[in-house]
Amino acid sequence: MQMPAERSVPESASPEDRLTLGEVVARTGVPASALYFYEREGLIFAERSAGNQRLYRRYMLRRVALILVAKRLGIRLGDVAAIFATLPTDRAPSHLDWERVSRSWKRELEGRRRYIENLEHQLVGCIGCGCLSMRACGLLNPGDGLGKRGQGPVRLDEASR
Ligand code: FES
Repeated sequence: MQMPAERSVPESASPEDRLTLGEVVARTGVPASALYFYEREGLIFAERSAGNQRLYRRYMLRRVALILVAKRLGIRLGDVAAIFATLPTDRAPSHLDWERVSRSWKRELEGRRRYIENLEHQLVGCIGCGCLSMRACGLLNPGDGLGKRGQGPVRLDEASR
């Protein structure tokens, strides 16, 4: 990954500072097209300058960073948007605001952790996907009976709920 040119941020920088699109791209590493998309999806917000240029409050950098983290963890953008919808849009979120987000996120992450743990345990066994290709399938999913209960890896999904 190419490192951005070193930028000097004044010590008086504040979360309320306005950053240009180019500054947000440089700081986050996220291309402008993705930022436009996040904006359309209501994940981030921009103001407009007198010349109609996008200006982002510095505190939007945190949202963009968390979107990137969520993507790495496989969390859907719709779920991130639902969580972000609880944050204020007219000021930098407070510690309490982020605590609330953290609680929602924790539930989501715990669900994912359970899913990964179950996958680790079941990867060499039957996950209930309908393939009937593992020795355990005949016992745990005879004749793909689990197909009547759902789509995809039914055993894995059910164990993770
Ligand atoms: S692993 Fe696919 S049905 Fe058992």
